[in-house]
Amino acid sequence: MGKHIIGPVGQFSDGTVKIVDLEGKSVGIVCTGGKFYALRNLCPHQGGPACGGIFPTLKAAIQANGRIVEYNDYEEPVVSCPWHGWEFDVKTGECLADRTRRIAVYDATIENDSVIVTIP
Ligand code: FES
Repeated sequence: MGKHIIGPVGQFSDGTVKIVDLEGKSVGIVCTGGKFYALRNLCPHQGGPACGGIFPTLKAAIQANGRIVEYNDYEEPVVSCPWHGWEFDVKTGECLADRTRRIAVYDATIENDSVIVTIP
């Protein structure tokens, strides 16, 4: 319970996930779009590593001619569990396939050029 210094901001590359152990919990530190997020690395499906990778959200839009076009939304990235592919919103921890399921999200901030994660 408390604040944890994860490391200098410069240690992280955009679009990456770093797995750390905090208070006996595996936590994914996500760096994307210049922001940081911290999520419990434990999938609610069957206990896999929920933060196996970070990806843009695949969305679809209907064009004026009726065609459906799929595109990647980099503004709403997800982490994905490699065991069966469940995806989780990095901001809320919500599972995209089943909004009743989620992974815990922890407060991630930057202080004195270091990434800080707070476990309540
Ligand atoms: S254990 Fe994560 S998708 Fe199945």
